[in-house]
Formats: sequence, structure tokens, C-alpha cells
Amino acid sequence: MWGGRFAAQPDDAMQAINASIDIDQRLWREDIEGSKAHAAMLAAKAIITPEDNAAIQAGLDQIAAEIEGGTFPFSRELEDIHLNIEARLTERIGEAGKRLHTARSRNDQVATDFKLWTMRATREASDGLRALQKVLVKRAEEHAEWVMPGFTHLQTAQPVTLGHHLLAYVSMAERDRVRLIGGALEAAWECPLGSAALAGTPYPIDRDMTAHALGFHGPSHNSLDAVASRDFALGALSSLSIAVTHLSRLAEEIVLWTSPQFGFANLSDAWSTGSSIMPQKRNPDAAELIRAKAARIGANFAALNGLVQKLPLAYAKDLQEDKALTFAAFDDFALSLTAMIGMIETLSFNRAALREAAARGYSTATDLADWLVRELKTPFREAHEITGKIVRRAEETGVAELALLPLSDFQAIEPRITEAARALLTVEKSVESRDCYGGTAPQRVREQAQRWMEMFE
Ligand code: ARG
Repeated sequence: MWGGRFAAQPDDAMQAINASIDIDQRLWREDIEGSKAHAAMLAAKAIITPEDNAAIQAGLDQIAAEIEGGTFPFSRELEDIHLNIEARLTERIGEAGKRLHTARSRNDQVATDFKLWTMRATREASDGLRALQKVLVKRAEEHAEWVMPGFTHLQTAQPVTLGHHLLAYVSMAERDRVRLIGGALEAAWECPLGSAALAGTPYPIDRDMTAHALGFHGPSHNSLDAVASRDFALGALSSLSIAVTHLSRLAEEIVLWTSPQFGFANLSDAWSTGSSIMPQKRNPDAAELIRAKAARIGANFAALNGLVQKLPLAYAKDLQEDKALTFAAFDDFALSLTAMIGMIETLSFNRAALREAAARGYSTATDLADWLVRELKTPFREAHEITGKIVRRAEETGVAELALLPLSDFQAIEPRITEAARALLTVEKSVESRDCYGGTAPQRVREQAQRWMEMFE
């Protein structure tokens, strides 16, 4: 492929380190799409003849059919997907095939192909997040008033509703979508094609034509930037890293919730695994692997960043390694999403265990302090102190919930505490009272679920 410059063949190991076809063959659709747009433009600008263009278009369509049908002869000697397709084209259509590479380089070609691939994958990742959001909203609505413990420091803090907890992840996923679509994708809208090797080309090409044919907003404004930059992939991977961090946190909660120690939820058989030695086990392997995938995706972002950050302009072969990292990150993300959707869809929650855990740890103590502030006009710091004493008394007398502590015990510490105050200390009353916008009250959860569903339509 190098024409006249070389007399001898490359070393086998040279070929092994240099060939990327095993990885970048996934770019075949984008490569053919890019070449078709390029050839059509060359013909429109009379750089090649209409006949050559027609032969190229037909030849590329046939190659697409070959690849789709699994009969395309991929060759490592031909290094990458670009040279594989070009060589095959010439094999099939002769002379005209050799004209396709006029006014372009593999450098603008690969930047364009890879960008197209990444943009499509980014949209798919965002659609996948939307699918997860829908499942979460449905489950949240079903469990809008189920009470569970809310934690800080993984210590019982205040009761919350399960619906509210699930909707927290819908908000996270929404911001993830904004980062993917509004951030990463939005920054990728310039078409590199026509930048050629690094400096542009002397041919009278029409870069608007190719850019628009490929669905970009327009041509890139600087040829060096266009062939050297991979921040479109970095943007996508950084957004994916954050998105999968959110999936990983939810996965971690599934691991905790489904442990016998928590007993909050059960995974369906389809999403559990057994143990080869312990017959009683139901393991949350998929959730654990999502945590692992999160680590890998973050690492791939770091690796891609490291790969780009020391390169002078413009293209360097290091950039070839961008694809394996990016493909793997998107693959891991898609699989993680599928698994998470499956788990959430079929997770069954244990209402009694959730409620019992919610009441443990004197979780409604803040409600009592708030009552003292509201009804007795006690300054909050004093109310905090009084409530602390009451909690201690409950603990000392072996009463597990404030709502179950006899009124006389409250009044021993603050005589003005009434039965009405005590009645507010159930977990149900506690969550109902937190009805500020964005709060955990069942009514607010239903309202938010409704808001999301309207947004999804
Ligand atoms: N396979 C190469 C890559 O993915 C294509 C570009 C090669 N360009 C070059 N000047 N060697 O980066």
C-alpha cells in the first residue's frame, strides 16, 4: 500500500503492532458512508468523472453487502479498515477505485469515521439512559408511599419513601443525558473530512457538501485541529464515566438491599446467580459487575486522555489506540444499562422490612425537634438538646421507636409535649410532612413521577 517508497516487507511484529483491523473493522459502515460522500463531492466538483463516481458508489455498496454477509476478506496486511475497503474496491472496480483517495488522507478519513461512530454511540447511550429512567419512574410510582430508611454515612438518618429514592437516580440519569447530548455530542458537530493529512488540500473540494451529507453542522475550521483532536471521544467517555458512576452507585445499593442483613429487596431469578458450594446463595453478580464496569470505563477515559495529552500536532499513530478504548467503554456501558434495566424491572421490595428498618435508629427524632420549634417556639438548638435527651431515655428504657415511647417519658423531659406531638413520630407521618418541593412526601413523589412521564412523551 505504500507504493514505491519501500523495497522490503515489514517485520511480522511491526505488522502486529501496527495493524488495527481487528478493532477498527467496526467502523466499516462509517468508512463506506464517508467514502460515498467524498466520491460524490469529487464528482460534483469535477475532480473525478461521473462514471468513476458511479463505479465507486456501486462498488462500495457491494462491499457493504460483503461485510454484512460475512464474506469480506479482512486482511491484517492491509492494516486497517480504510485500506482494507479501498483495496477491495480497486480489486472490484479497477482504476476508478484508485481515484477515491484523491483530496483526502487516512487522517481526516479516520477522524471522520470515528467521530460518526462515536456520535451514533453517544445517542444510543443517551437513549439507553432514557429507557432506564422510564423503568425507574414506573417502579417509583408503584412505591411512592413505601417507607424506607434514608441514610447519611449509611447510618439511619430520616425516613424517606422508596419512590423518592428511586427517582433520585432518574435525576442523575437526566443530567447524564445532558452531558452526553448537550455536551459531548454538541461539541462534535464539525466535520474533519477535507482536512486531508493535516494542512488541507489543493483540490477545489466542497467541504460543506460532504459535511452536510454526513449529518454534520459544517466543516471543521482548522485542518490541524480536525485530524489531531479526539476530544469528541474524550467528551463522550468522560460523560459515560459519570453516567456509569451513577449506575454503579445504584448497583451498590442493590448489593446492599438484597443482602440478608438488609433484606430490603430480592432480585428475580433471571438476575441472580447461585453458588457452586453454598446452596442457599443468591448472588447479585450483575450488580457487582456493573460496579466493575464503572471502574473500567473510568480507566478507559483516563487512558484515552493520557494517550492524547502528550501529542504534538497533528496526527500521530498513538491515536489509533483511541478506538479500542472507546468501543470497550460504550460496550461496557450498554451492557451495564441492559443489566440495570433488567434488575430494576424485576426487583421485588420487602415492604415490612423497609418499614421496620425505617423506624429503627430513632429516625423521627428530627420530627420531634421540629414540633418543639413549631408549637412551643423552642429555639432549634434547644429543641435538638431536648430531643437528644428523649432519645437517650428511649434507649435506656429499651424502646426502639420514639412513636412507641410512653408520653410520660417525653413529659419527664419536656412537660409541654402532648399526645399530638407523639402521634407525629411515626415514619408515615414523618415522610408525609416532608412535602416541600423536591421532598420525600408520597404526594411529591407522585407529582415528580408524573412530571417525568410527561417529559418522556
Ligand atoms: N488506522 C489509523 C488510525 O486509526 C488510520 C490513520 C493512519 N494514518 C497514518 N498517517 N498512518 O489512526
